[in-house]
Amino acid sequence: MKHKYTNGQIVEGVITGIQPYGAFVVLDEETTGLIHISEVSDDFVRDIRQYVTQGEHIIAKIIDVSEGPSQLRLSLKALNYSSRKDRTDKDNKRPLVPDAELGFETLETIMPRWLKQKEKDMVKVDLSHALLEGNVLDYQEDVNRIHEMLHAGTGKGSDYTGWLDWANRYDKEEFARIKTAAKRIQEQADVLLVCGIGGSYLGARAAIEMLQGPYAQSDLEIIYVGNTFSSTAIVRILNYIKGKRVAVNVISKSGTTTETALAFRMIRQHMEAVYGEEEAAQRIYATTDAKNGLLKPLADTKGYETFVIPDDIGGRFSVITPVGLLPIAAAGIDIDALMQGVKDATFEFNTPDLTANPAYTYAVARRMLEKQGKVTEMFVSYETHMLFVAEWWKQLFGESEGKEGKGILPASVNFSTDLHSMGQHIQDGTKNIFETVVLIDNPIEDMLVPEELNDLDQMNYLAGKSLHWINQKAFEGTLEAHEVTGGVPNILISIEKADAYTFGYMVYFFFTALAMSVYMLDVNPFDQPGVEVYKKNMFRLLGK
Ligand code: PA5
Repeated sequence: MKHKYTNGQIVEGVITGIQPYGAFVVLDEETTGLIHISEVSDDFVRDIRQYVTQGEHIIAKIIDVSEGPSQLRLSLKALNYSSRKDRTDKDNKRPLVPDAELGFETLETIMPRWLKQKEKDMVKVDLSHALLEGNVLDYQEDVNRIHEMLHAGTGKGSDYTGWLDWANRYDKEEFARIKTAAKRIQEQADVLLVCGIGGSYLGARAAIEMLQGPYAQSDLEIIYVGNTFSSTAIVRILNYIKGKRVAVNVISKSGTTTETALAFRMIRQHMEAVYGEEEAAQRIYATTDAKNGLLKPLADTKGYETFVIPDDIGGRFSVITPVGLLPIAAAGIDIDALMQGVKDATFEFNTPDLTANPAYTYAVARRMLEKQGKVTEMFVSYETHMLFVAEWWKQLFGESEGKEGKGILPASVNFSTDLHSMGQHIQDGTKNIFETVVLIDNPIEDMLVPEELNDLDQMNYLAGKSLHWINQKAFEGTLEAHEVTGGVPNILISIEKADAYTFGYMVYFFFTALAMSVYMLDVNPFDQPGVEVYKKNMFRLLGK
């Protein structure tokens, strides 16, 4: 009988059984395959357990379908990006999969879990309103080349691609310390000051605001400092924390960022005056470079607990490192779930196939729209608690792409609020804008509109409807107005819900989309030379 799989096809599956001679893989309810030990890696594989794990999602190439759908032969090494390296814990000389895990998980156990995961489709991209003049799939060859370059670490700025596989290699001991420190902060403080700027605070703020929503009931108030020279902001915060129990997370890779260092000096003096040097040191946590910069020696001298910003991950990618994780955990958000989201996305987006990788589809669509003269990308959300996701996204795309006189300008609006201000320009202004609308399918909160007897405000026509339903209608009406009437292309990105897992998944989606999109411009996505210019001038004026 003919079946739907063919030689050379790239497929996803789950490893359900490991035997000394190979790994069994389930592709769908009717189809299984075997990766023979010789097809796992270019290395000589002695013990397959050092290369693959039971329950692991994999992408493989079909190399033989002749035995039918229950006995496909698959290969990992035939795909550069899936080929394995020895993952043995070298210090202990043990395979990562203990003996007990050799064997099978039954199909009955693994299939529902896997299918459920696949069904979820955490982040969906819809290009049906993007008014593209051409086919995304025409870019497949470029995408293949860039994907390989990104994963092989041969592209521009590849020293800063540590985020690519960070979810599979972050320091678990430090992760445990982050959770312990977060608990201590919750016990010792009413207010946590998160002192950092740019990549050293935007990710944490995006996560905390997106996941907790506005006016969340929380025992720990989080205030972001060290991100401005506004004297009013700095003085007001110093006044506000008087009499409150305070903890501080100062975050700076360089330790020399003036906004952060200046605010931190004032906060440090406040803390030492209130608590004394010793107790202040128990309440201050520093996230910084392992060796370099000014903050590490300062923290060591003062006795602060420190967390490391990895060398190979730039500020705008650092939300998945201690930079983001400590404040996020202190806010009471499940960072295990967040990192699981990053990990699953790391797997899901590790394919160049444009029909299977929505991050790359989005990346290509941006470049196509740019060629159509759409040089401003408007990040649109219909939830006010997405405001800082938009700020984070603007840094990610603006700092990565705006170089060498190139790049789409990232901007943002929050609807329907901004439909009463910026809406006019988007509808009728210069036709150089496209919108990227990020929707949350399931809101954190919802309620029905109540009925009123006299209907003086004439709102009874909405009685019994949910607030989220009304918001959706506002979106649908706006989409039609902008796309059909205004000719403004809309890329729609839907996110299943605002939880920690989805946040982790979403940020990785944007990381990979960004890397692909910027490499398509032949620009280094990972440096930011332009940000030094204002500093040089400012230091001259300050007499540094
Ligand atoms: O992404 C970046 O590189 C910047 O936004 C930095 O994170 C920001 O300037 C803060 O730098 P630092 O962490 O050295 O204080």
